[in-house]
Amino acid sequence: MAVLTIKDLHVSVEGKEILKGVNLEVKGGEIHAIMGPNGTGKSTLSSAIMGHPKYEVTKGSITLDGQDVLEMEVDERARAGLFLAMQYPSEISGVTNADFLRAAINARLGEGNEISLMKFIRKLDEKMEFLEMNSDMAHRYLNEGFSGGEKKRNEILQLMMLEPKIAILDEIDSGLDIDALKIVSKGVNEMRSSDFGCLIITHYQRLLNYITPDYVHVMMQGRIVKSGGPELAQRLEAEGYDWIKKELGIEEETVEQEA
Ligand SMILES: Nc1ncnc2c1ncn2[C@@H]1O[C@H](COP(=O)(O)OP(=O)(O)OP(=O)(O)O)[C@@H](O)[C@H]1O
Ligand SMILES: [Mg+2]
Repeated sequence: MAVLTIKDLHVSVEGKEILKGVNLEVKGGEIHAIMGPNGTGKSTLSSAIMGHPKYEVTKGSITLDGQDVLEMEVDERARAGLFLAMQYPSEISGVTNADFLRAAINARLGEGNEISLMKFIRKLDEKMEFLEMNSDMAHRYLNEGFSGGEKKRNEILQLMMLEPKIAILDEIDSGLDIDALKIVSKGVNEMRSSDFGCLIITHYQRLLNYITPDYVHVMMQGRIVKSGGPELAQRLEAEGYDWIKKELGIEEETVEQEA
């Protein structure tokens, strides 16, 4: 069973500390949601896990099944079974969606274990049908000219094709229409198994009506300040974040600087 363990993680961007001691454990079979105000470090956490070079880990550890993730190159992290659906997926001109997926799957499987073209096409057709995607999306350049919602749906296609151990979905619900939200959620739910752990970053409780999380965490000022079950997301939706700030005695960052 996969276990992603994050301990006392501190991350700086261009010399500024953004994450200030994050502790989190995501196991196979579990779905965790992270919510929190804008700019509190949620995407920074995902970038640091995936090894984006701009995000410097200054303290703490990340392990996957006991292996040191911080020692791994970016491609090794993907091969080890980590997956990130980015908040803003990049457009890659000149590489078709299908070619990208096949290369990514083969990188994951390793030399000598590549997926056959027949098997790949069958799997791709099956997953695209499941996600109600138009088949010509496979032959377009990756994300180029995709609408916001198409990009998000395509991230879930990647998820279903790559079958990672641990996936981080950064605002997978942003920009989705109601039907697309249901389809994307259906994709994530289809992945649910004891071999798959998932970290969902979202601003809205609505997504969690479709994908029921086991745990909900609140991130503020670079730390996870509160954890609970789905009821925590409901309270945030209803009341916002002020009550947590009051409860924890957290001041607005700007106020802190003036003091
Ligand atoms: N590459 C970068 N260069 C400069 N600053 C950055 C960079 N990445 C993140 N930051 C800063 O770090 C802070 C946290 O950003 P991050 O994207 O992690 O927030 P977030 O919690 O994901 O917010 P949102 O809910 O708006 O997506 C912000 O103040 C942001 O400006
Ligand atoms: Mg973000």
